[in-house]
Amino acid sequence: MSRIRQLSPELINQIAAGEVIERPASVVKELVENSVDAGSTRIEIEIEDGGARLIRVRDNGSGIAVDELPLAVTSHATSKIGSLDDLENVLTLGFRGEALPSIASVARFAMSSRPASQDAGWRLEIEGGRNQTQQPAQHPIGTTIEVRDLFYNVPARRKFLRAERTEFGHIDELVKSMALARMDIEFRLSHNGKPVRLLRPTIDENSALQRVGEVCGDIFIGQSLHLDHAAAGLHLSGWVGLPTASRSQADQQFFYVNGRLVRDRVLAHAVRQAYADVLYHGRHAAFVLYLELDPTMVDVNVHPAKSEVRFREGRLVHDFLYRTLHAALADTRAGSVSSAPTGLAAAPSSFAPSNGAQASTSTAWSAQRADWRTQSPLTLGVREPLAEYALLLGTEQNSAIVDYAQISTMQHSSSTMDEGDGSIPPLGFAVAQLHGIYVLAQNAAGLIVVDMHAAHERITYEKLKAARENDGIRAQILLVPLTLAVSEREAACVEEQAERFVELGFEIRRSGPQSLVIRRYPVLLEGADVGSLVRDVIADLITHGSSRRLEEVQNEVISTMACHGSIRANRRLNLPEMNALLREMEVTERSGQCNHGRPTWVQLSIAELDRLFLRGR
Ligand SMILES: Nc1ncnc2c1ncn2[C@@H]1O[C@H](COP(=O)(O)OP(=O)(O)OP(=O)(O)O)[C@@H](O)[C@H]1O
Ligand SMILES: [Mg+2]
Repeated sequence: MSRIRQLSPELINQIAAGEVIERPASVVKELVENSVDAGSTRIEIEIEDGGARLIRVRDNGSGIAVDELPLAVTSHATSKIGSLDDLENVLTLGFRGEALPSIASVARFAMSSRPASQDAGWRLEIEGGRNQTQQPAQHPIGTTIEVRDLFYNVPARRKFLRAERTEFGHIDELVKSMALARMDIEFRLSHNGKPVRLLRPTIDENSALQRVGEVCGDIFIGQSLHLDHAAAGLHLSGWVGLPTASRSQADQQFFYVNGRLVRDRVLAHAVRQAYADVLYHGRHAAFVLYLELDPTMVDVNVHPAKSEVRFREGRLVHDFLYRTLHAALADTRAGSVSSAPTGLAAAPSSFAPSNGAQASTSTAWSAQRADWRTQSPLTLGVREPLAEYALLLGTEQNSAIVDYAQISTMQHSSSTMDEGDGSIPPLGFAVAQLHGIYVLAQNAAGLIVVDMHAAHERITYEKLKAARENDGIRAQILLVPLTLAVSEREAACVEEQAERFVELGFEIRRSGPQSLVIRRYPVLLEGADVGSLVRDVIADLITHGSSRRLEEVQNEVISTMACHGSIRANRRLNLPEMNALLREMEVTERSGQCNHGRPTWVQLSIAELDRLFLRGR
């Protein structure tokens, strides 16, 4: 064994850099965060050679006093906190006093700065953490930091640098994510002397949306919902992408907690669950969300690069998030402007709100409206599986079950379709059925095409879910109770949360230190592997404080029933039946997507149709 010795400050900083400075984008992150913390309103980022040759960040923030310049590059020196109390209340992005010394130890570093209190600026240079020099320099109020030849003295790290384009890509992503965090700041980014991005400060919701579009694309803007909701000391705002704007990668998921971009399991889980009912398998939601809460409720000091946080009340945050998003997504009814999937053009703006303004484009409308008013109720062959479901629920004749002999489609939609105000329903009036698969309808904007099976499946599914919620869960008693071996922690969890299991339709007791006995479970789980399901629910309760797994499995069961109970392809519908389907879609939650997240309808505007036929060119 060699002798224990004290490491040199440079080596200490280089080790710290190993954790925080992974690649050029990490340097940009640290420097831009410092500029943000300094109250800057303009931040300019110049990059050369993907950041390997030069990273220069210029800001108009508070600047650093000449006598504090050397401190700024000393480890554990910070102006942002001074006590544990400050740490628990921290609202700045930085607080560790580690970034600059780390960066300065693995590059050629220069920092020029001037606070308002000084007439002139000063420049400090330092190379690989050594040979520090300082001299007067011209500089406007603010700070410029230059980082050249990153990892020049750490060959092992330098080898890991990827192609220039890849590294710049990471930097661009980082700048975009910072720009979404701080809409009030102007960001400029250039690469090898060429301007790449200019994001002007936003002044209202419109310009904020433009910035979101710059980062997430126009599709996202057209197919997202804005939300703003506060409760229990939590405030969630931002934009959530509709299922039709989902992506094959989780590459447009921006979640900010008190202005800091974070990746967090609790948050990710809540978001995934909120989308569970509307997203196609393997697709990822797109969103830009801001969560604000008391800084003492969240620990930001849990990750070296501060990209993770820990919530003091994880369950509260999880449930708040889930409920808010779930409610927002429930509003994706077919025919509502925001959920309109577009037909031919990518630009979502092609959807025209269906007010009466364009009604005069067709003389057939008034005749159709009369037809819709007098339509006969739609009767579909859906009784069988539904009756089966009614039995499961213990309600032989359930009023909430889809039965178009019973449901008056006119009743609940009368407000939107009052003939007196001349309005046209959002999904218009049916004109024909195509190949037994699609319903074609005419609305104010043009042509609507509906996948009738997909649409009806969603309607049936939502009704079955509502029926279940109204009537509770029917449980069945087991003749031979089921014994389950679990860990002590799991057994304790069941004991503590006994009531939750009752709510879920279970009778389940602890029968020993490491065993449970199940005497009763929901009828809807017949045929499922109840033992492993219970284990999964316990795991959810332990990790997330809540579980929606049972509901999900039950949803799967009723989703299958909905599928079998819905209009099959090739079934002929007459016009009143088609119109009844359109009206149902307009009032059913989530009816913009089928149960698998695919769109149930598309709008082809007159302009899009004109374009197809090269009209007006
Ligand atoms: N652009 C800047 N404008 C004004 N002051 C700055 C700037 N960059 C750094 N500083 C000052 O230098 C100090 C050290 O910066 P450094 O990034 O190393 O640490 P920090 O931001 O306090 O914490 P962290 O390591 O978590 O980022 C900061 O506390 C701040 O006072
Ligand atoms: Mg910092």
